[in-house]
Amino acid sequence: MSLTLPESSPLVSSQLGKVFVETYGCQMNEYDSGIVRELFRQEKYDSAETIEDSDIIFLNTCAVRENAHAKIYGRLQSLGYLKKKNPNLVIGVLGCMAQNLGEDLFHQELPLDLIVGPDNYRNLPELIRKIREGERDVQLTRLSKTETYDELEPKVVNGIQAFVTIMRGCNNFCTFCVVPYTRGRERSREPISIVHEIQKLVDMGVKQVTLLGQNVNSYSYEDADFSRLVEDILNKTKIERIRFTSPHPKDFPVHLIDLMAKEDRFSSQIHMPLQAGNDKVLRDMKRSYTKKEYLDLVERIRSQIPNIGITSDIIVGFPGETKEEFEETLEVVRTVGYDMSYMFKYSEREGTIAKRKFIDDVPEEEKSRRLIELVDLQTKISLERNKEKIGQTFDILIENTSKKSKLELCGRSHCGRMVVFPIPENESTDLKDWIGKTVPVAIESATSATLRGKAVRG
Ligand code: SAH
Ligand code: SF4
Ligand code: F3S
Repeated sequence: MSLTLPESSPLVSSQLGKVFVETYGCQMNEYDSGIVRELFRQEKYDSAETIEDSDIIFLNTCAVRENAHAKIYGRLQSLGYLKKKNPNLVIGVLGCMAQNLGEDLFHQELPLDLIVGPDNYRNLPELIRKIREGERDVQLTRLSKTETYDELEPKVVNGIQAFVTIMRGCNNFCTFCVVPYTRGRERSREPISIVHEIQKLVDMGVKQVTLLGQNVNSYSYEDADFSRLVEDILNKTKIERIRFTSPHPKDFPVHLIDLMAKEDRFSSQIHMPLQAGNDKVLRDMKRSYTKKEYLDLVERIRSQIPNIGITSDIIVGFPGETKEEFEETLEVVRTVGYDMSYMFKYSEREGTIAKRKFIDDVPEEEKSRRLIELVDLQTKISLERNKEKIGQTFDILIENTSKKSKLELCGRSHCGRMVVFPIPENESTDLKDWIGKTVPVAIESATSATLRGKAVRG
């Protein structure tokens, strides 16, 4: 007697294999890994618990600086032993490095079967079938003007927080940056699909979403701009907090500042990458603002939202940057007084305008020296800014227990600062009773990275 299995049988599903996705790079890659997982889930593949236990491994990669590439070469080499153990194992490189290097990756004797760029993930299941039918060195790196993966809604949740990509690509072509080449042109998701995804996240218990885009404030879909989209999300969902990253200082309309000032549920925190403080360097970077325009914008924002948290990205050692020009970056960092910054040494990227136009002429030791000086300054300022908060009370949305103790809770203030405080005496030590709640906390002490305090009884 023959036994016919129904289509949804677990046997059929496990025959397709287990998929493992490892993510590098920015939050948009985290979101994209969610898209890939969702695609394979819909195709009835299983997800692997560990990389050793998988039949298909995807590395979702970054290309923004040289060390991002170096990491992936190292990782691929270290996966060779799994390929020897299981000849049917498929290894694929996805994301920005795949788009950036394309088939060159196949010429380096790496254990690699597949290269797929950020706009081609829908084709992944079909490409896996082709590999299993015997095709070798499979590659798809076609940029799209329209792909936004709207209906996939990967629901990338970490505790009470989630990321939602609202636009893809970038049209800015800052001269140092590879992203416009790896992610293609700007395109925005339809508001209704974003609102729908956030509503679903709220139903799952998510309290805070971070709206993502390489140039998030240039969101534009028919007559909806970024502010309209945020208003729509606030009106149509019960999400408690909205954050966003990264805006470009050149697209910061007054009504967006107004909305941040008046809306409690819109986090008073802005990541506003400066990149450099000198006008010539900014011009060579093609950032489209001057030092003065940037500082005026900061002043306008601060005058309307006094408690705003401002963070930044900064590059040192851009081609031609003199010591004096670098000093201007330090000066802007002091003037703005960022809460925190991500700081990088300039890394020349293949295909970028800077690589074609300029010579990478700041010596490596000088770049390192400038980076150390900048990091020292920023750490000092972060500490000062945090110390100013001692004595104030902030509403903290509790995310988790602290890294050090299960009896301590941690979460963020509206202005984005991480705050740690002990579970009040005689109250539940069950995490479920705390996570996702908003509690007023009086700040008692500060380091450059963290504030500590005590919950205030209401
Ligand atoms: N779209 C975002 C960030 C993109 S990449 C924005 O415009 O702000 C994140 C950061 O990496 C950039 O802000 C920049 O500071 C840094 N970066 C990008 N290319 C780089 C390069 N070639 N060398 C060093 N840092 C770089
Ligand atoms: Fe890169 Fe500039 Fe676009 Fe940001 S805005 S992704 S730094 S080109
Ligand atoms: Fe890296 Fe691509 Fe993000 S280059 S920073 S993973 S958009």
